Amino acid sequence: MAPRPAAASPLLLPALLGLYVLAIALALEVSVGKTNTVLALNGSDVLLPCTFTTCIGFQDLIFTWYFNSTEMIYHGKIKSKTSEPFLVSRNPRVEFVGSTTGKDNNISIVLKDVELSDAGKYTCHVKNPKEKNAQHNATIILTVVHKMEETDNTLTLIIVGVVGGFFGLLILFMLVKRVILFIIKKVQDGKKECLVSSSGNDNTENGLAGSKAEQKAPPKA
Ligand SMILES: *[C@@H]1O[C@H](CO)[C@@H](O)[C@H](O)[C@H]1NC(C)=O
Ligand SMILES: *[C@@H]1O[C@H](CO)[C@@H](O)[C@H](O)[C@H]1NC(C)=O
Ligand SMILES: *[C@@H]1O[C@H](CO)[C@@H](O)[C@H](O)[C@H]1NC(C)=O
Ligand SMILES: *[C@@H]1O[C@H](CO)[C@@H](O)[C@H](O)[C@H]1NC(C)=O
Repeated sequence: MAPRPAAASPLLLPALLGLYVLAIALALEVSVGKTNTVLALNGSDVLLPCTFTTCIGFQDLIFTWYFNSTEMIYHGKIKSKTSEPFLVSRNPRVEFVGSTTGKDNNISIVLKDVELSDAGKYTCHVKNPKEKNAQHNATIILTVVHKMEETDNTLTLIIVGVVGGFFGLLILFMLVKRVILFIIKKVQDGKKECLVSSSGNDNTENGLAGSKAEQKAPPKA
């Protein structure tokens, strides 16, 4: 009798694993998207995204948004896939913006007029009675900043600095090049001047043709 369970267990384990994977695949899933952090500017409205999937469908599904795990900020119910959710209760600054009749079961909310004290964890929780009250949740972290411009400004300043520095160097390089070319030209002109002056000397020598003439004169004479 002892060898029997030992022989069965190699088959039992993959079977259980298969069932477990199947159960996970069918289970209720809640997602806040790829990134679980949101940055918002003080005073702005911020979208807190959330969607859920369920393979066997849902009925009288309950979804709840919590702030910092405890404070309920939105509570809604959805009768079925063919209806939009109805509001049970909410924080006055929270507005439902999702839709559950489309492809995604979108239960996103918008938090209006964000304050610095709104920073923290936002948990989207879903409970499906049709799935033996299966529950699942996902959390998004909100960061509130005073001013976006500050970072923008530093970035702009960096860009201006880099670009300005680049053009400054370019201008400097061009100036140096001009100066060098000018000097080279000057030197060459100087040489030319020397040549000119030497030819001028020739001319003067020509001008002093009289002397040449004088020089030539003797043979003429
Ligand atoms: C945040 O915005 C509110 C108004 O939208 C303003 O009264 C408050 O001073 C701002 N706080 C900071 C720290 O910028
Ligand atoms: C979210 O789910 C985890 C388990 O996955 C549970 O421990 C936690 O209490 C849930 N949070 C809320 C706010 O329901
Ligand atoms: C959910 O709905 C909101 C508002 O219409 C939209 O901005 C957001 O992109 C939607 N999210 C998904 C995952 O479809
Ligand atoms: C919410 O939680 C964050 C950290 O998770 C904390 O910094 C913040 O003070 C909390 N806010 C409130 C109002 O409890």
